[in-house]
Amino acid sequence: MKTEIRQKFIVANWKMHTTSFEAQQLSKSIVEGIAAPDHVTVVLCPPFPYLPIVGDMLRGSRVALGAQNVYPEAEGAFTGEVSPTMLLDLDCKYVIVGHSERRHKLGESDSFINRKVVCALASGLDVILCVGETLEQRQKGQTEAVLDRQLSTGLAGVRPEVLSHLSVAYEPVWAIGNDEHHATPQQAHDTHLLIREKLSQMIGATWSGELTVYYGGSVEPGNAAAFLGQEGIDGVLIGGASLKADEFLAIVNAGILETEAEMQRT
Ligand code: 13P
Repeated sequence: MKTEIRQKFIVANWKMHTTSFEAQQLSKSIVEGIAAPDHVTVVLCPPFPYLPIVGDMLRGSRVALGAQNVYPEAEGAFTGEVSPTMLLDLDCKYVIVGHSERRHKLGESDSFINRKVVCALASGLDVILCVGETLEQRQKGQTEAVLDRQLSTGLAGVRPEVLSHLSVAYEPVWAIGNDEHHATPQQAHDTHLLIREKLSQMIGATWSGELTVYYGGSVEPGNAAAFLGQEGIDGVLIGGASLKADEFLAIVNAGILETEAEMQRT
């Protein structure tokens, strides 16, 4: 369970970017540049091969390590895959599951994503489950049905005792890395309310209220505060802007300011 002050979460998804040297430099700049590390939770999710390098840079800091994917088995003949046990062995605390790029470019199904969620949570990782509709689905008025399916199938069989290790990221596919289509903070707010409503039906109002829900999709220094200031948005999941230390740190600062504003209000 969280404390009364809801710290903002700022998660960097580096996707398939950086070299080993860049990963080291970027994580170093981020660790050194966070103004008030205890007022925000920051997570870096580098590509698999760079987890140990980034993990070394994060050791002793308050910045956590996360992975972008996981395979839902502890070990075995699964060529090219990475298990939850391996991620834990490298000091990963978080894992992103069901990112839209894995759903739409790599063909992951809701039921496969569900296996990952259940296995990663049971193994002791904190899971960030990504959900979100495509532009076509939004235009056809299917957003609610899509989110309903992704959440109900994605979270099937998740045991109540691991819910404190689960969070959900709303990432509308049409707003990810897209200069043309941006979700407005109001659209993000409205969809977050919908997600919490669904979660409330599935896991009860108390857990649904406690759960961290992120927004992701072209978040940058210029709009981060507007998203983070919306009721129901506890954090942001950042792709492109997380690859530049100054931009990412500006977003982290927006998170710190929002957490501090919350502290003033309570
Ligand atoms: P962008 O911030 O590049 O739109 O990516 C968002 C995302 O996919 C984070 O997981």
